[in-house]
Amino acid sequence: MIDTHAHLYDKAFDDDRDEMLRRALDNGIDRIVVPPTDSESYARALNLCAKRPDMCFLAAGLHPTSVKENHEEELSFVEQQLSERKHIAVGETGIDCYWSLEYLDRQRDAFAKQLKLAERHSLPVIIHSRNAFSEIFPILDRLHNPKIKGVFHAFSGSRQDYFRIKGYETFKIGVGGPVTFKNSTLPEVLKEVPVADMLTETDAPYLTPHPFRGKRNESCRIPLIVEKIAEIKQLSFQSVAETTAETARNLFGI
Ligand code: NI
Repeated sequence: MIDTHAHLYDKAFDDDRDEMLRRALDNGIDRIVVPPTDSESYARALNLCAKRPDMCFLAAGLHPTSVKENHEEELSFVEQQLSERKHIAVGETGIDCYWSLEYLDRQRDAFAKQLKLAERHSLPVIIHSRNAFSEIFPILDRLHNPKIKGVFHAFSGSRQDYFRIKGYETFKIGVGGPVTFKNSTLPEVLKEVPVADMLTETDAPYLTPHPFRGKRNESCRIPLIVEKIAEIKQLSFQSVAETTAETARNLFGI
């Protein structure tokens, strides 16, 4: 299985990072996509991925909640890294209208520029969309072409949102802890989504699945997500594990 989204450079893992990776492996998760959020977390992500190239795969990007006055400088940094070494994706990028609207114009600009960067480097893009489909879709409508591909990470949209995403034909959706929450409407939506369009992810250390909600999340919890998808789609655990891993390998080239 593959964890397609985990912030394993986070200080929440400083005391037991090696053990945490060991636990992931013991639970059948052998590849993890690590998306930084800015230049500062990039350095830590790079350090981890350089140490564990067997398991941890590096992306480069500027997260929407990290977009501030210096966003152009941060984007130059991302561009520089992409030209200097191998990455498996651009991200995490996107738009967040939940935390703050203060830099919304800059968020739009940063998202559009990162889509173009991803296209130029033939990389998939990892999209964070929080209360922001009405911002994301118009930008994608303007810039999308068959070479722009990627994932809507931690997808939490409606049936309509999913079909809009499906319309681009080059995007998958990331399914994580929230699908296991008791009040989640996601299982209903996922009934309409082919498993081949889903990626499994944790967003560790955040979005911990039931019954560990409230605790630190980590990559070894991916089987809880696979199990939930299998229940929703009435398929075997094994078949969901295989299909989602194959989709991840194809999208990220890992
Ligand atoms: Ni994230």
